[in-house]
Amino acid sequence: MKMKIYRFKKVSSTNDVAKKIALKGERDFVVVADEQTKGKGRMGRKWLSPVGGLYFSIVTKKNPMLPLISGISVASSLKDFDLSPVLKWPNDVMIKNKKISGILIECLNDYCVIGVGVNVNKTPLKTATSIKDETGRNVSKDMVLTSVLKNFESCSEKNVLDEYKKLSSTIGKWVKIKTLKGDTEGKAVDVDEHGRLVLESGERIVSGDVIHLR
Ligand code: BTN
Repeated sequence: MKMKIYRFKKVSSTNDVAKKIALKGERDFVVVADEQTKGKGRMGRKWLSPVGGLYFSIVTKKNPMLPLISGISVASSLKDFDLSPVLKWPNDVMIKNKKISGILIECLNDYCVIGVGVNVNKTPLKTATSIKDETGRNVSKDMVLTSVLKNFESCSEKNVLDEYKKLSSTIGKWVKIKTLKGDTEGKAVDVDEHGRLVLESGERIVSGDVIHLR
């Protein structure tokens, strides 16, 4: 199925625009903007969104695998640019320890809004990287978008967990996790079928911010 794409020059946040459209009952569509004035990150953070980056949101029906599927889709697209991305749990797309893409998923009623930011031709922070920084050339944001959407739509649920584990840079590391309930620390040993991070102690983390310690 080819998803309808709504294109904008400047919006507050593509996630918010997508939610407004979804309220009217529409599903399986994409909102993309050249710039965001109130880009949102995970854990209440901001997502700097200057022109040159790719900012889009996909609205689709709820599925517990969505965080894994979206991370895999972005990472696979970056491989087409000869890059070797890895996924820091849950779905930060990293290249040599620098973030190149972030994903914010917001779920309401029967659907989820998957917001994806990719640093394409612009690197908004010193600690981040972009496709341009890594390849030395400007690339078409539309090409990146088309590729991510194609991967997203063709990601077969059967292999999601295996694909995800192959890309994970968190499994096997000693991690500190900041969750809304407080901090926890331990060795990350697996990711389960619900996308939860499994620690050696048996603890399963639903959401949080991971720091790789060693
Ligand atoms: C993160 O790593 O903290 C998640 C960042 C998600 C950013 C994207 S950009 C498109 C969409 N609209 C937003 O306001 N946020 C997401």
